[in-house]
Amino acid sequence: MKARKIKDRIYWMGSVDWDRRLFDSLVPLPDGTSYNAYLIEGSKKTVLLDSVDLPMAEELLAQLEGIAKIDYVVSQHAEQDHSGTIPQVLKKYPDAKLLTTPKAKGILIDLLQIPEEFFITVNDGETISLGDKTLKFIHAPWVHWPETMLTYLEEDKILFSCDFFGSHIATTDLYVTDEGRVYEAAKRYFGEIMMPFRNVIEKNLEKLESYDIEMIAPSHGQIFPRPAFIIDAYRDWIKGSPRNTVVLPYVSMHESTKQMVDYFVSALVEKGVRVEQFNLEVTDIGKLAMALVDAATIVIGTPTILAGPHPYAAYAAFLANALRPKTKFLSIIGSYGWGGKTVETLAGMIPNLKVEVIDPVLCKGVPSDSDFKALDELASVIVEKHKEHDFN
Ligand code: FEO
Repeated sequence: MKARKIKDRIYWMGSVDWDRRLFDSLVPLPDGTSYNAYLIEGSKKTVLLDSVDLPMAEELLAQLEGIAKIDYVVSQHAEQDHSGTIPQVLKKYPDAKLLTTPKAKGILIDLLQIPEEFFITVNDGETISLGDKTLKFIHAPWVHWPETMLTYLEEDKILFSCDFFGSHIATTDLYVTDEGRVYEAAKRYFGEIMMPFRNVIEKNLEKLESYDIEMIAPSHGQIFPRPAFIIDAYRDWIKGSPRNTVVLPYVSMHESTKQMVDYFVSALVEKGVRVEQFNLEVTDIGKLAMALVDAATIVIGTPTILAGPHPYAAYAAFLANALRPKTKFLSIIGSYGWGGKTVETLAGMIPNLKVEVIDPVLCKGVPSDSDFKALDELASVIVEKHKEHDFN
């Protein structure tokens, strides 16, 4: 795709990756993604903000054909989906300087072996003049790496936010036109990579309050012409109260745990609790991450195998622990054959979660009437807990 004009002498460059289906060999990308770079031409200096993932290098280099001089390349974030083509850009423009945070400098040297002489490090709040346009750099650590910064174009009131506020969507729409679709993709993205750092991100959000922002241009997905939409969504995901929802990742081997899950979901629904149920054999873990963003309770359903939880259930627990959602309660349900340490093992896997563990319901073999009664009681306890906290 060719470069696209955003405003006078401000262009989108980059690549729309329609075919990519996995990020970090982990995160599903059902709608592909984009790697957004931006070219800003001041009256005296020209800057390229970020680059693209290395496999897309040719597309960016083609867009730069006809751009005689680049004075500055800004690396907002050292992760290779944005920095991967910087060495090729610097090869094309050997007189350009690479502006980045002091921490990013070391990481870029480690990851891309960029020679030290290219670098100029910038401090938080530092500005650089392009002539009639001014860039202000805003350090934003842990969005989602420690070295990240954002860039504010003062005269045009555009915030270039890198991964912050991003979403994995491949589309020809330069701007957000369908906020519902973008909300879902951005929430998934938040759950997958931002949620573990939400306390630090909250501080970065506060930092932005003093800026007059007319447009947010992230490094993945579409540009926000109405910044309040995504800023408000982030505020809710970070600080909002958890919802009256149970997230139920489960796996079943011989249908006993599945019978428990079916009964339990019905019991919760009858009592007015929303449930998001994920069969771990087939689930898209991005959807699970998204559901964890605001669920009040997690209940893991697992049979006992090899004296512990099923490995898929262990994976879900590991993931929840790593993503650190604001969940308040956790329990376990499932069937076992003759014994094991399923509860102890799972409980030991979630040290990062600030949750109250509610007594689990484990049954021997297929569930009996007393087991179903225990599931009713567990559902009632969850309902009461949610009511106590006024989760809606
Ligand atoms: Fe889109 Fe953290 O890279």
